[in-house]
Order: sequence, then C-alpha cells, then structure tokens
Amino acid sequence: MSNSPIGIFDSGVGGTSIWKEIHQLLPHEDTVYLADSQNAPYGPKGKERITELSIKNTELLLKKGCKLIVVACNTATTNSIQYLRENYNVPFIGIEPAIKPAALQTKSNTIGILATIGTLSSELFHKTSDLYANGVKIIEQVGEGLVPLIENGQIESPEMDKLLEKYLQPMLAAEIDYLVLGCSHYPYLIPKLKTFLPKHIQIIDSGIAVARQTEAVLNQYELLNTSQELGTCTFYSNGNIDILNDIIQYEFPATKLKF
Ligand code: DGL
Repeated sequence: MSNSPIGIFDSGVGGTSIWKEIHQLLPHEDTVYLADSQNAPYGPKGKERITELSIKNTELLLKKGCKLIVVACNTATTNSIQYLRENYNVPFIGIEPAIKPAALQTKSNTIGILATIGTLSSELFHKTSDLYANGVKIIEQVGEGLVPLIENGQIESPEMDKLLEKYLQPMLAAEIDYLVLGCSHYPYLIPKLKTFLPKHIQIIDSGIAVARQTEAVLNQYELLNTSQELGTCTFYSNGNIDILNDIIQYEFPATKLKF
C-alpha cells in the first residue's frame, strides 16, 4: 500500500499549486492529479452539487489505487470533506484558508481573504474563522470570475487586472496587512497581486501546510513510500490539457510527468 500513489483533486488546474508543494516535499511519492476543469468553477454550485462532484473525483482516484486523497480545493474541502471522511476508507487531507497565521501575525488587526462564494458561505469556514480570528477584523471578498480566467489561461489579461483591482480596493481601504488566498487557483496570481499591493502586505496561502500535513498523515498510517526513485506524476483532466501542461511544465521542467 505504501507504494500506491497519493491522489489529488481540484475543480481544475489550481490544485497543482498544492501538488507542487507535495511533490517538492515528498519527491519519492507517486501522485495522480485530477483536474475536473469541465465542472469549474465549483464556487457558485452549492453544497449538494459540490459534494456530488467530490464523490465522483474520489471514486476515480480510488480506482487508480490511491492510498490517500488530498482535496486540493478550498471549496470542495469546506463543503464536502466531512462526507468524504465518513464514507470512504482512506485518509483525506483538506485545504482551508490560512486565517490562523494571518490573524496571529497582523499588526493592523485587519486581514483580507479572497476566496470563492462556496468557501466563504460554508459552515466550516465560519467555524474556522470564528475560532482563529481572535478579535481581528476580516475583510471577506468573493473572487467571482477569477477561476474561469485562470482555467482559460487568461492570467495576463485586462479582465483579470480589472477584477483584481476591484476586489483589492476595499481591502486596501481597510488597511489590511495580510491577504489570505482561500482558493488553490490563486497562488498563480501572486506575481500579479504583488503589482497591485503595497510591499508591506504579506500574501499567505496554504500549500506548504497541506504538504506537511500530507507527510504527517502518511507517516501516522505508515504509508510513506520508501522508494529512492523520483515519483511518477500522472495528470488527468476533462478540460484543456494544454493549460494544465503549461502550468506544470513551467513550474517543474524536470518532473517525470504522464498525461
Ligand atoms: N481551486 C478551487 C478552490 O480552492 C476553486 C474553486 C472553484 O472552482 O470555484 O476553492
């Protein structure tokens, strides 16, 4: 079982930002990545539909023999991970917006969070932010339209600039000093976000934390792959494979990839 791959899914290409951290931390693990781009964005779909799609993705990854599943999507995690954990017999790792470190470190006592409507309206997100906000003011912003632009390879576009300017404006007015990225697609916007934000604003995402948690859980279940070979990384997409390929090749030119 420890030689089996780690399964990772997202509504599209964004979860590769999590895959990248996992592959970097655990290079000997095989990974199977599933991009459900045909159904992106998950954000506006509602809990029931998001759970249905998460079930479909989980079953496909289980058919591929995965030993653990990383739900590399904040929207799918906050809406469906409880169901997945209750109904399938493999460990699940989820991703949630990194409110805690931002709330602990803010000096202006105000932080911003950019996420999908599905995440910001979920019960799990409210529980987490109530638990960790600790009197800190949180400016929530739905990033409507950002995921479809990333899925279409339009990070560098006037439409993207227009949306980001609009979404960041209320956060800048409220004097945030931390911006939490609550969607696994958004790390690909970091270079662009930096052009809109003053230098003192820190951008936080959850990628490294998810990779560390994946390692800890594999260890706990004695599922770490002991091979000394570089793991094989397999990618499945029901959308535009070129965009997925561009993102991965650009980030990891030397990775053993299979499509
Ligand atoms: N990457 C997903 C997330 O982290 C995007 C959700 C969507 O498809 O709207 O929430």
